[in-house]
Amino acid sequence: MTNPSTRRTVLATGAASALLLGCSEYGDENSGGDTEEAPSAAPSAAPSGSASGGDTAPGGKELTRTADVPVGGGKIFKDEKVVVTQPEEGGFKAFSAVCTHQGCLVANVSDGTINCTCHGSRFRVADGSVAGGPAPKPLPAQQITVTGDSISLA
Ligand code: FES
Repeated sequence: MTNPSTRRTVLATGAASALLLGCSEYGDENSGGDTEEAPSAAPSAAPSGSASGGDTAPGGKELTRTADVPVGGGKIFKDEKVVVTQPEEGGFKAFSAVCTHQGCLVANVSDGTINCTCHGSRFRVADGSVAGGPAPKPLPAQQITVTGDSISLA
């Protein structure tokens, strides 16, 4: 008599140790706290010049004095999100202080550029155009009124 001994050897390679990490990461970006205000592009209905000087400027509140804005440089007003520059003596410009890259407030003005230190964008004080860095667009111009030695938002 023959005894057919059929032996099966099942090799279970133990590589199926699937560790399921609890990786339930949803795109929960609903922080909701970052309300970015659009720059108010209100049309400036500036009354025709009453150049008497001395009084506070009509329309907006005073930002600064002309003497406080360095020639070739500028000054940043974080609350108003405005940067005022004086590219050449007596010529004042104003731009949004919100970087066009990812919305940081610009940090300083030096060597003829308005600088965002978040990622290194630089904007020219003369026209807000991009001088370097990742910013895709110039800083938008803002309206200001210079009355005597007072600079106000228009
Ligand atoms: Fe200004 Fe990125 S937000 S450089």
